Amino acid sequence: MARTFRAISILTCGIGLMLSTLACAEDLKPIDLPKPRTEGGMPLMEALKARKTSRSYSSKKLPEQVLSDLLWAAWGVNRPGSGKRTAPSAVNWQEIDVYVALEEGVYLYDAKANRLEPVLAKDIRAMTGTQSFVKDAPVNLVYVADLTRMRGASDKDKVFYSAADTGFISQNVYLYCASEGLATVVRGLVNRPALKNALNLRADQEIILAQSVGYPRESE
Ligand SMILES: Cc1cc2nc3c(=O)[nH]c(=O)nc-3n(C[C@H](O)[C@H](O)[C@H](O)COP(=O)(O)O)c2cc1C
Repeated sequence: MARTFRAISILTCGIGLMLSTLACAEDLKPIDLPKPRTEGGMPLMEALKARKTSRSYSSKKLPEQVLSDLLWAAWGVNRPGSGKRTAPSAVNWQEIDVYVALEEGVYLYDAKANRLEPVLAKDIRAMTGTQSFVKDAPVNLVYVADLTRMRGASDKDKVFYSAADTGFISQNVYLYCASEGLATVVRGLVNRPALKNALNLRADQEIILAQSVGYPRESE
């Protein structure tokens, strides 16, 4: 069944490619991330002292190990028994998905499998924000709330809690970056309708914030 679905989707993608320059997820391969290094790093108080926003990025890519560590720090599973994560979430809804925009395309972080699932084989980093430095950052994270997971919440609560839950993930990224000497900025300046369209998101998925990560530009 899964094989049939994949065959149909590859076929659809192929036809799409013939008709246009559509970039399909099938053009990207899943990435099994190396096991995150969950020890070491800077002492917490020193990381808090170093935490800051940076808007100037080197184009140097992050090694896969660093990407794995970053994503685990952000929103990885830190208690495999319960499947709970490095950031809290209201009612343990775990409604935030982290999309990872790299030069080669966009992936979805599967925290449980420690894997990046292909979403789009296209460099849309510039589209994850409205500021000129965004395209330079090798990694742009996009925090997307899947509202269907927030069972029992009113529309107002969905907006409030998905924003609050994203804040914790973003701060984890800030602290990891401080610890590793990486540059980062969380961003609300996002053209959400355009990005939502580019990522092919459903109506019940909402883009909350984006966050650029990379090595600081030498001159900084
Ligand atoms: C929710 C939120 C949205 C933000 N949006 C942007 C943004 O779109 N672009 C940007 O350059 N900085 C953005 N920032 C970063 C703030 O400007 C920055 O945190 C603030 O100037 C304080 O600097 P610091 O983080 O170094 O303490 C945002 C911060 C937060 C918390």
